[in-house]
Amino acid sequence: MYKLVAFDAYGTLFDVYSMGELAEQLFPGNGAALALMWRDRQIEYTRLVTMSDPDAEGSRHYLPFWELTLRSLRYCCKRLQLPLSADCEQQLMAQYAKLCGFSDSLEVLRSIKSKGLSTAILSNGSREMLSTVVAANGLTPYLDQVVSVEDVRLFKTAPQAYTLLLKNFPFAKQEILFVSSNAWDALAAKWFGFDVFWVNRLGHPFEEIGESPDYEGKSLSEVLAVV
Ligand code: LAC
Repeated sequence: MYKLVAFDAYGTLFDVYSMGELAEQLFPGNGAALALMWRDRQIEYTRLVTMSDPDAEGSRHYLPFWELTLRSLRYCCKRLQLPLSADCEQQLMAQYAKLCGFSDSLEVLRSIKSKGLSTAILSNGSREMLSTVVAANGLTPYLDQVVSVEDVRLFKTAPQAYTLLLKNFPFAKQEILFVSSNAWDALAAKWFGFDVFWVNRLGHPFEEIGESPDYEGKSLSEVLAVV
């Protein structure tokens, strides 16, 4: 029934919380707190930029996700009173650039392609950072397209971001399954009109607003049961 399976990148195919281990080495006792706050602040910046100027031509406050990631790291270190030297910053950002994929990411993409379906990433990530992390994890051959919101200069959850999949592929909304581990992303994609699969690795509750996801699983591999 689906012709395209489109994946969120950070947190869904690539493990953002693995940053906690390096953060813990650099700032003992604070790694987990830094990783969590960093992720939250990064997403908060995307929302601030988007909501403050949701213009059809893109937000005039737009900065690439890479830059927002760096700025949010700097903010969180100040807030937690952690001394972020140039060397620590470089190490953390270098690891972010080559984040590890989850163990099943490659196999799931490969299996979907072998069934004759198209595959894509739709991410807030900037083009360059996406191509680096995709290549570092060997996923390039199994993705038809890596779509970045850089094309609209508005971040998810702006509808213009989800519309990019309709612009880039010759498929109708109902032929697209959107997969995300971020509940807010799954919820917004559902509001946009896609069927969604929520990868709920941590057994969290879904959001208390909006509709439930069409599918939910504990790992990416469970997507294979519905395509
Ligand atoms: C992304 C972030 C939001 O890849 O996870 O779009």
